[in-house]
Amino acid sequence: MTKTNKFLSSVIKHQKEQSKERFNGFLKDYLEILEINSDISSLAHKRLYDAITSRGLTRMDDSDPRCRKLFNAEPLRTYDYFQESFFGMELALNKVLRFLHSASMRGEEARQVLLLLGPVGAGKSALVEHIKKALEAAEDVYHIAACPIREEPLHLIPRALRDEFEAVYDVKIEGDLCPVCRYNLLEEFDGDYTRVPITTSSFSIRGRRGIGVVPPMDPNTQDTSVLIGSEDISKMDLYSEDDPRVLSLNGAFNVGNRGIVEFVEVFKNEIEFLHTMITATQEKSVPSPGKQAMIYFDGVIISHCNEAEWNKFKAEHTNEAILDRIVRVNVPYCLEHSQEIKIYKKLLGTSDFDYHIAPHTLELASMFAVLTRLKPTNKVDELTKMKIYNGEEIIEKGLLKKVDIKDLREEVRDEGMTGISTRFVMKSIDNALADSDKAMITPISIRESLIKQVKEQITNEEDRKRYLTFLQKTLHEEYLKILEKEITKAFVSAYEEQAEALFNNYLDHAEAYVNATKVKDNVTNEEMEPDEKFLASIEEQIGIKGSAKDNFRADISSYMFAKLRRGEIIDWRAYGPLKEAIENKLVGSVKDISRIVTKSKSRDNKQQKKYNEMVKTLIKDYGYNEDSAEEVIKFASNNLWRDS
Ligand SMILES: Nc1ncnc2c1ncn2[C@@H]1O[C@H](COP(=O)(O)OP(=O)(O)OP(=O)(O)O)[C@@H](O)[C@H]1O
Ligand SMILES: [Mg+2]
Repeated sequence: MTKTNKFLSSVIKHQKEQSKERFNGFLKDYLEILEINSDISSLAHKRLYDAITSRGLTRMDDSDPRCRKLFNAEPLRTYDYFQESFFGMELALNKVLRFLHSASMRGEEARQVLLLLGPVGAGKSALVEHIKKALEAAEDVYHIAACPIREEPLHLIPRALRDEFEAVYDVKIEGDLCPVCRYNLLEEFDGDYTRVPITTSSFSIRGRRGIGVVPPMDPNTQDTSVLIGSEDISKMDLYSEDDPRVLSLNGAFNVGNRGIVEFVEVFKNEIEFLHTMITATQEKSVPSPGKQAMIYFDGVIISHCNEAEWNKFKAEHTNEAILDRIVRVNVPYCLEHSQEIKIYKKLLGTSDFDYHIAPHTLELASMFAVLTRLKPTNKVDELTKMKIYNGEEIIEKGLLKKVDIKDLREEVRDEGMTGISTRFVMKSIDNALADSDKAMITPISIRESLIKQVKEQITNEEDRKRYLTFLQKTLHEEYLKILEKEITKAFVSAYEEQAEALFNNYLDHAEAYVNATKVKDNVTNEEMEPDEKFLASIEEQIGIKGSAKDNFRADISSYMFAKLRRGEIIDWRAYGPLKEAIENKLVGSVKDISRIVTKSKSRDNKQQKKYNEMVKTLIKDYGYNEDSAEEVIKFASNNLWRDS
């Protein structure tokens, strides 16, 4: 099949799907369908909530380490529809969906405006776009065929019959016919509402069907017609002033009826302009242009803005009426660097570069981003706080440091509303790429690029100093630690096995020491005293000396024993402090050879061979390429193993 033929067959398939029969009928047909499926008459909030949750809903509970460590083991819902493209935003998403859920049950929220508040580049616009797309993919909506605002067919049912209708169908009717439908009903159908045609259509952002967008307006040209439509001047000669046929119902509230009205950067608008928003929520209706009656409105109103605008708006007490109708959801920056990485992966996936990203590059950039967003605390240093927010174990003096993430969070307010944005990092990534003549970025080049960008862009002296310290000191040291471990792993053949062997040995000897028993040699079956020198050689790696030894050994033995008794499998990673000690021991054991071999000048044949093997491992097992491996090794030899 030629490419064109193949594509054409897709075209035909697509056309077939598109021409899938639309419903065309009358009230009777509609009621028959409604009897089977009352969801077709759902109000907008429920329609949207269903569209999102129908993609799947997962309950995150304490079997998930992120939930256990980051969310106080409080069960949290995650929504599959957002999982693939939004990261570290679970709390904000939960609040948004909770709003929709209450509103879908016709709670007070159905009469409120959802406001997403967050710093630049936190994903507010992206989130609203994604929510709108959920509607585009949702089931078509049934509406009166000739209605400019695609209104609910049940509005045709006269007041006198509504009680009976509600009793029969257990469906509540809200709202009345719009002026246009009312006119048509009387003039065209002699008031016989059973003859009014009903059809279905889809939601479409670009087609302005069910999704209306209000961009921020220039105060001078601000005109409510953007919101509620206008009177068509060309028709004013034909019809009288109060004839609905002069109405052009194409404002955002008309377009967004049954779906969503989005206010972009909402508080950039003048307050007068926003009054329609109040009526729309409070009375569930919007004024019609000209002299007609109010028009019933059913839609989700979503707005977004940043904090500066919000604070300005909030300060005006004349704005209270609106403030009272707002459900605010903070959309802070992501504060988990392992989630932040996923954002960059997503954003890079959409651009067209063909390049290599060395291991730990995005990790380092993400750590920097998160560090700038955290507020300092007296309890721990900033790097430690970052790790705690990432759900990592913190080891200090051979012990797991007990710092409650909850305490850290409660200490500060509105964390994640400041700091650098995802866009800032993306620009640095782009610059690092553009500057590279080897089509790659490495932790080294991204750090340089970030430093350059901070110097250029961050004007606040205090922030600038702080950010540069993160890059030039904190993360420089952190990266060296990461790199040292990685190179060690590449050096030590069978790293895992060696670590495991050290671990098993340590446990055997520590246990015998604690219980004052002997250790049996695996091979000779000979009984021997626990090897205290060996135990100490591991413990000193994490600074455990003197009397602390006994406690450490006892703690580990009982910890492992408890795990075994619960049927859990233990390995050398099972206990943070011991894992760290083992890693340090292995790093130490190859320190000398690392130093010699990474220095290109002094390599002899044997060392060259060792070097080549290491590079091969870095490429094969750790994701480097020739160039990036060479760059990081050079960096390591210059920074890690200085000849002293
Ligand atoms: N937590 C996140 N998960 C996934 N993507 C994110 C996240 N935060 C930001 N992004 C991405 O960053 C980019 C910038 O976000 P967006 O434009 O939506 O920000 P915004 O909050 O609307 O900012 P502004 O106030 O400047 O309009 C988007 O491509 C978005 O997908
Ligand atoms: Mg935006």
